Amino acid sequence: MWNNVASCALGRLSHNATPPLLPALQTLNSVSERKYKGFCHGEQPIRELCIHYKWKRMHDMLPRRLVSDRTKYRQYAKKYPVLDGRILSVYRHAFEENLRNSEAVIKRYSELLEMVHKGGGEDAVLRHTQRNKKLFVRERLKLLLDDESFLELSPLAGLNLPYGDVPAAGCLTGIGKICGVWCVFMANDATVKGGTIYPIGVKKQLRAQEIAMQNRLLSVYLVDSGGAFLPLQSELFPDKSHGGRIFYNEARMSAMRIPQVAVVCGSCVAGGAYVPTMAEEAVIIDKIGTLFLAGPPLVKAATGEYVSPEDLGGAKLHSEVSGCSDHFASSEKEAYECIRNVISTLNYDPLPEEVTEHDSPLYSCDELLGLAPWDYRCTLPVQLILSRLMDGSRFQEFKANYGTTLVTGFGHVEGHLVGVVANNGELTHDASLKGSHFVQLCGHRSIPILFFQNTAPHTAEPTSISQAEAHSKRLKAQASMMGAVACAAVPKITIVIGGSYGSESYIMCGRSFSPNFLFLWPNARVALVDPRHLSTVPRAGNSDCTGGETELKHLKEKLEEESSAFYSSARLWDDGVILPQNTRKVIAQCLEILDQQKYQVTSPCQYPVIRM
Ligand code: COA
Repeated sequence: MWNNVASCALGRLSHNATPPLLPALQTLNSVSERKYKGFCHGEQPIRELCIHYKWKRMHDMLPRRLVSDRTKYRQYAKKYPVLDGRILSVYRHAFEENLRNSEAVIKRYSELLEMVHKGGGEDAVLRHTQRNKKLFVRERLKLLLDDESFLELSPLAGLNLPYGDVPAAGCLTGIGKICGVWCVFMANDATVKGGTIYPIGVKKQLRAQEIAMQNRLLSVYLVDSGGAFLPLQSELFPDKSHGGRIFYNEARMSAMRIPQVAVVCGSCVAGGAYVPTMAEEAVIIDKIGTLFLAGPPLVKAATGEYVSPEDLGGAKLHSEVSGCSDHFASSEKEAYECIRNVISTLNYDPLPEEVTEHDSPLYSCDELLGLAPWDYRCTLPVQLILSRLMDGSRFQEFKANYGTTLVTGFGHVEGHLVGVVANNGELTHDASLKGSHFVQLCGHRSIPILFFQNTAPHTAEPTSISQAEAHSKRLKAQASMMGAVACAAVPKITIVIGGSYGSESYIMCGRSFSPNFLFLWPNARVALVDPRHLSTVPRAGNSDCTGGETELKHLKEKLEEESSAFYSSARLWDDGVILPQNTRKVIAQCLEILDQQKYQVTSPCQYPVIRM
């Protein structure tokens, strides 16, 4: 969650932290550039410069770098050594096995995605579009977002849960561009049980808000929801991380100067009514949008009086009488045009249009399917994966010959400089020390870190005193890496490319270590232990006493089912399953999203915008 460490990760935005790469500097003309350099030699005070050039919001900030010259740095990067990505014949067998597994899991992934894209099913979509005259949620996104690809988060959340299938958790979330600015969107899908909020839907919205806070992204809510899914009220109402937290976050985000806007494009009942009312600006759509704490059936039950939804809380009422909405739209199209205009008034600067020239990897990313391990025993050297993700397959490896079961080094992804930490075997004592050192380097140099996670399924039990001593030493080194990862004040992106097992997964920036983004490959397996490597049922307190065959079989089956990437993603333990061949694109998109905050230099504000 949002905490001090996370806010350090945005250190460039806080007063005490290293100042940002000043946005205006990137567009300085040659005259101002000369003057800027002059300032750095003490010739001109920055305050004067800021006033002269009307640079906003950065009077007390000193530049970290004089002039951004990414092109120059990229040229130096072209001298990084090229990784050898050839798949040698000795790797062929494992490669073929991995490939077969990847094809099977990707087929399953496509089936699940297809199901999710249908929302609540054909009948519900027809009812929504024909009877209720509303646009399907994916059509709404087309009108809201710029005509570019967007990053959908956790589309598989909500599938196959103990309380049934809730496609996309009843709420689409993601990051897309509006008026050139990366924004988080949260959009209810009313074809899934009237857009009511399930426990998994609450979790999904809270995660989207967390992403907005951690990455300083303005947020748009498209509200079309029947409020809480009543049969599960005890799992989504009373606790700290339940429904009320969404409204609490809205206020906190506004106070952090993260603007939020809303479109009432359907029913906003009970709790759902607070979402647009807590937003800084809201649009309501005539004949479609309604907003009330208790709907007509409750009014009838309480007073015996019938009142139409329109009269009780329709667009006219809220635009002319209550003031709960700030803009009246006569159609869905008009509403999304209006909200785009609102966003253009937020004074959020889009990323400067930079021509980012970069080299593609020298090896085909399709071959990642054969490198995605179906089992830890089929793991191939991780450099083969990196050679298919880094620009020009170039990689400046750090401590290449020390602690070789962890690969660390620098490279570029679509022109963005990154530090890479990748499992290449067990996290030994030396590997952990190296990881700890490298993560600190990235922290000091303000370089985002990419973690490629494929942790060993188990550690061999010590069979001698000397081995036990080695284990203790390793524990200490791992703890130091854990500390370094937890406190590195830079953005972190984790991709689980194989196993995410046991404590080593924490050290490799698992979910509990709050990476800015965490994605899984479809072959990924997430569990405390790997059932394929489990030979006994452990019993607490007595290592000699183990469970029988049947118990072992049951435990293995349970673990097997619970370890799949889809099981994890359904429960929102990650931000989604991505295809190996799309990994480079997704990472580049995340890095661009992360870059945007460098251009939003704002001082913290103590109070949210409160609707009057
Ligand atoms: N809890 C559980 N299920 C709900 C629900 C709720 N709050 N609101 C709606 N549903 C279910 C309906 O039972 C229906 O289920 P079904 O498809 O299995 O029959 C499904 O969602 C769709 O509802 P329906 O009323 O047919 O769709 P609609 O598009 O005509 O209307 C609403 C949607 C949300 C406007 C309407 O259902 C409604 O007003 N619901 C009550 C909202 C409310 O009072 N919420 C208080 C929550 S604290």
